[in-house]
Amino acid sequence: MTLPSGAVAVVTGGGSGVGLACAAALSARDARCVLVGRRDDRLQAATESLDGAASIVAADLTVEGEPERTIQTVLAARGRIDVIVHSAGMFDKASAPDVTADHWRRVMDVNLDAVMALTRAGWEALSDSGGQIVLISSIAAVQAFEGNAAYAASKGGLNALGEVLRLEGRDRGIRVITLCPAQIDTELWDGKAPDPVRARMMPAAGVGELVADLLGADRRIDIGPVTIRPIQDPWVEPEP
Ligand SMILES: NC(=O)c1ccc[n+]([C@@H]2O[C@H](COP(=O)([O-])OP(=O)(O)OC[C@H]3O[C@@H](n4cnc5c(N)ncnc54)[C@H](OP(=O)(O)O)[C@@H]3O)[C@@H](O)[C@H]2O)c1
Repeated sequence: MTLPSGAVAVVTGGGSGVGLACAAALSARDARCVLVGRRDDRLQAATESLDGAASIVAADLTVEGEPERTIQTVLAARGRIDVIVHSAGMFDKASAPDVTADHWRRVMDVNLDAVMALTRAGWEALSDSGGQIVLISSIAAVQAFEGNAAYAASKGGLNALGEVLRLEGRDRGIRVITLCPAQIDTELWDGKAPDPVRARMMPAAGVGELVADLLGADRRIDIGPVTIRPIQDPWVEPEP
């Protein structure tokens, strides 16, 4: 376990789903989490569910200047940044011919451009602390699913970005971990998957624990892209 006690962890998308689960697991390991998202009420509720050491920055990371303001706010309040978990993201299905220019732009803005902007803004602070970055990518980066044109392209781009950051981070003492999960039971599936299918997906809490464990792994270990899946395909009804 090498994550220092009191480490400052910026968790985007920290108000819900995977981000909140990562924050819960990191808080349980004595990290001081800063939850970032657009909905102030969700962030407030999320911090109350944690241990009291967490704080929030309400920001739309796709808005110019907001990633930089987020990093500056955290540094002013906490003085350092040890971890950035990039979990903010969106998933909207449309087959390739139906992807409008607006849909494409929104998905890229949230899933890729905002990650790059926040990483750039936080790079120096992570370099100072010898910190770590986790990119919550997706299995869609490496496996094709129908209706995923924009999402898959954004997550494929994120994996490629993660590999470059992993190399460039080495010289600065920054470890970069890309996680490529298949289905996790979160709000992202609201209206997109029925309850029995969701019940067979991975639990967000388990994914959060895994992220915290990876961040705690011995720093002499370089961690390549990590793919995780539910133990069975959630869309296939098990044999009785
Ligand atoms: N669930 C899955 O099956 C699955 C599988 C593979 C990968 N993932 C990835 O996991 C990540 C988290 O998704 P989730 O499943 O936890 O779903 P979720 O609960 O919908 O989380 C998405 C989070 O992103 C935040 N967000 C969205 N747009 C934002 C913006 N412009 N600025 C700041 N924050 C923004 C949302 O907060 P606000 O709305 O308050 O801004 C929300 O907390 C995503 O990157 C997703 O692609 C999920």
